[in-house]
Amino acid sequence: MRDDIQEVLVSEEEVQNKVAELGAELTEEYEGRFPLVIGVLKGCLPFMGDLIQKMDTHLEFDMMDVSSYGHAFVSSGEVKIEKDLNTSVEGRDVLIVEDIIDSGLTLKYLVNLLEYRKANSVRIVTLLDKPEGRSVDIAADKAGFIIPDKFVVGYGLDYIEKYRNLPYIGVLKPEIYQSE
Ligand code: PRP
Ligand code: MN
Ligand code: MG
Repeated sequence: MRDDIQEVLVSEEEVQNKVAELGAELTEEYEGRFPLVIGVLKGCLPFMGDLIQKMDTHLEFDMMDVSSYGHAFVSSGEVKIEKDLNTSVEGRDVLIVEDIIDSGLTLKYLVNLLEYRKANSVRIVTLLDKPEGRSVDIAADKAGFIIPDKFVVGYGLDYIEKYRNLPYIGVLKPEIYQSE
């Protein structure tokens, strides 16, 4: 698996240090507020799993699956609910956890939905932000790393479902996706 990686963009140590830093900030910001942390499947899973352990405050979490990419290499522009929340967001302080913001379509849709469902506050934390990919106007409240417009995998991010279990963020060798 690791032979398919051309370049490590964010090392495992850098990822873990950033997660600890974000967790400490969020601990202070959500102290005493019992936030509802919402993970966007599947990419959020490693980040969310690590992040909530660094949030030293009571919280509740739930997961939602809103897909925009399907199995295509570029975004289709379509957003679809694959799995909805089990929890009511009404009156809750919601923190959305994402692995990456690219076009912004997924989050734009989700923020609108949660506001429509009367969340008290909706904030976004993303590990990666790719501003050059943006097609709609949305920004994270917290972003771990700003990255260039390259196709990245690892720590939740996939290419046709593979590489999510890499502990770092890497750039895939072009021959991997050119040969598909
Ligand atoms: C990826 C990623 C984000 C979204 C970002 O998810 O995990 O959720 O795309 O792209 P956008 O800003 O252009 O909407 P994907 O839909 O591929 O599902 P996955 O998390 O299951 O891989
Ligand atoms: Mn995702
Ligand atoms: Mg994906």
